[in-house]
Amino acid sequence: MGLFKNFLGNEESLFRDPIPLEFDYIPKIIKYREAQQQQVALGMKPLLQQRTGKNVLVHGPPGVGKTVAVRHLLRELEEEQEGIIPIYINCWQKNTNFKLILELCDQLDYKFTHNKRSEELFGVIKDMLNKKAVVLVLDEVDKLENTDFLYQFLEEIYRKSMVLITNYKEWIVNLDARIKSRLLAELLEFQAYNKVETRGILEERMMYAFVPGVWNGDAFEIAATKAYELGDIRAGLYVMREAGNIAEEGASRTVDTTHVDKAMEKLNQFYIKKKDELADETKFILELVKKSSETKIGDLFKVYQQEGGASSYKTFQRTIKKLETGGFLTVIKLAGGQEGNTTLVKVARSEKTLDQFK
Ligand SMILES: Nc1ncnc2c1ncn2[C@@H]1O[C@H](COP(=O)(O)OP(=O)(O)O)[C@@H](O)[C@H]1O
Ligand SMILES: [Mg+2]
Repeated sequence: MGLFKNFLGNEESLFRDPIPLEFDYIPKIIKYREAQQQQVALGMKPLLQQRTGKNVLVHGPPGVGKTVAVRHLLRELEEEQEGIIPIYINCWQKNTNFKLILELCDQLDYKFTHNKRSEELFGVIKDMLNKKAVVLVLDEVDKLENTDFLYQFLEEIYRKSMVLITNYKEWIVNLDARIKSRLLAELLEFQAYNKVETRGILEERMMYAFVPGVWNGDAFEIAATKAYELGDIRAGLYVMREAGNIAEEGASRTVDTTHVDKAMEKLNQFYIKKKDELADETKFILELVKKSSETKIGDLFKVYQQEGGASSYKTFQRTIKKLETGGFLTVIKLAGGQEGNTTLVKVARSEKTLDQFK
């Protein structure tokens, strides 16, 4: 894999820095989203005047910059405003009341959570937050198992601005009335980028990630067009990364259309699978990895069988591999050790939604 060449100090690598191709990388400037960022910021403004803020519900399809725009804003807030506590939580990982509360304790640096119930811990959080003002971002908020936490937060935290992010506008329609009436969220839609914008974003990432001049213009155009057609910047980042790897594996000094074509095949394999019935099975396995405390692939397979999974170990392994290719899971291979080689499976650090399977 090309990426390791960097670590070995190999001058030949096509990559200058692979990090900007990761999905959770936050660029210095978020192009084309200033208006949306300003609207979210406006909801926080009253906090500076010792009042409570507004709540905003950000919605739009996957891969259109919802997460990155809001996280970028939080980062600025953190740098500029001492009195406001910025908190970002992805509900895909923290999907229960208790997990959310534990995460808040963690972010607030409160360590004594052991053996404490959620009520007690919420009390601690409340005391800490009510001394200041807080901006709470709940990303993929539709993944929450219930809305108890939202209710409690709305009721008991005084100076706050909540930013809820979801791919589904309908989520708010189905919210329980007692929450809706307290939330009174402004709706803010993020639409898919047009072609020029898509190209602009990907070009910038190309500049950061690759050695100047290694990309063939036509090759880049194919990648950018694909991302535009799918309406998902992630697809473009994925194709660029894979094409770069494929080019390096073939010891090419440039990334050409042949490399991009191969990378697109990989992308398509993944996008096509999302449509057939295998999607449910794939989702099931992903959920299982998320929920299980096991990380060894063999143990995960046992849990999979206990939960009613019927595929063979080989098929199971293949699905894990596919999830890794799509950036949903990280697979780590440990050589040696007491039990010989071990494969560990973890949920990827970069945040991902299940939408790509639909
Ligand atoms: N305006 C932008 N400028 C730079 N990068 C962007 C922009 N919009 C999206 N991206 C990148 O595209 C990818 C998907 O964006 P993300 O915010 O995760 O999408 P969403 O939350 O809408 O699914 C991320 O890697 C992000 O950095
Ligand atoms: Mg997101």
